[in-house]
Amino acid sequence: MCYAIPGKVLEVEDKAVTVSYFDEKRRARNDLYELIPGDYVYAQGGIVVQKISASEATEILKSWKELFFKLKEKDTRLASNPKDLRQIANSIRHKELGNSCCVHGIIEFSNHCTQRCLYCGLNSGKKAIKRYRMAPDEIIEAAYDNITGLGFKALVLQSGEDDWYDADKLVYIVNGIMKRSPALIILSIGERDENLYKKLYDAGSRGVLLRFETSNESLYSEFKPGRDLKGRISLIEKLRDTGYLVMTGFQVGLPGQTQDDILKDIELTASLGTEMFSFGPFIPHPDTPLAGHNASESLDLAIDTIARARIMKPDAKILVTTALETLDKEEGLKKGLMAGGNSLMINVTPAKLRRFYDIYPGRASIDMEVKDQVDKVLRLLKDIGRAPTDLGL
Ligand code: 5AD
Repeated sequence: MCYAIPGKVLEVEDKAVTVSYFDEKRRARNDLYELIPGDYVYAQGGIVVQKISASEATEILKSWKELFFKLKEKDTRLASNPKDLRQIANSIRHKELGNSCCVHGIIEFSNHCTQRCLYCGLNSGKKAIKRYRMAPDEIIEAAYDNITGLGFKALVLQSGEDDWYDADKLVYIVNGIMKRSPALIILSIGERDENLYKKLYDAGSRGVLLRFETSNESLYSEFKPGRDLKGRISLIEKLRDTGYLVMTGFQVGLPGQTQDDILKDIELTASLGTEMFSFGPFIPHPDTPLAGHNASESLDLAIDTIARARIMKPDAKILVTTALETLDKEEGLKKGLMAGGNSLMINVTPAKLRRFYDIYPGRASIDMEVKDQVDKVLRLLKDIGRAPTDLGL
């Protein structure tokens, strides 16, 4: 199974390439490979992440061709005659970006965390939780299985803020993955040093997932003791300027967060100039200070947030988070995708560890085999006319 359609390079202009997918032209950035017109590549999030042989590409393109056009037709049908906020957002997504939906894998490689975020079940004050760390070689091996074995072209490496993984270890991991099974590596390791991030860029990672959590400074300081919003924003901007594809956003439905805050959150997300957004409903964890909060409106608020962000930033990639699925197991992902979302994640953390990554309770899909999760996502995407692939920009 594959989660990307290979594109044929038409033009190369320094670091910008034009790639064609069944005669649709897209742009992508390339600084990892020597390319000439006629080469075949995979691009993820607008970045060339793999070069493949013409014979392999032709095989894969053959298997896609018919399905690709059928899915498009279905998506066009479902996106026509929009009537409400979510449908309008969906029709904008359709018009601006077509029917491609990136499917990323996520490996939660450590649940150790030095921070004490009030909303998070991994906060360092929580003693009862069983902590784990995957060894660097174990992470490289898991990445290989998912990229080469299962066809993922983008992989999020997520952990708490865990200094045990110093620059040497993290560079070793990124290098090891890029040598064995190149892909878009997206780091989600928290507020680490800017120079560390630079080293990891040089090692070949090209994405960072770092939410600012809330744009309300006083809520931020309250929920993240010892940290301030300005520092976080400044790091996000620096990472963007380094060349990282940055995925940012916030939690929706936090205690004390108003509708006005949420609009400001969306504005901040759009103004940071990053390419990808991630908004998730806040889900109270029973063992945290925010346990008693009533979050019954989080789900709808989060879906409307996706829609508003899509309207504000028509060409963004917007992730539909697992937290939506957690709150609505049957329809959460679909609702997000039908309200402007166009990106998903599948949890590929080794099964024995998944339940210990306890950021919030009842996480969806933690007991499912990766293959079953993939099948479920592919069924959903087919049902709504989306192609499980990323065509670049
Ligand atoms: N509910 C929803 N999302 C949460 N996160 C942490 N705790 C919770 C919670 N209780 C999110 C944060 C973080 C991401 C990895 O998980 O937004 O950035």
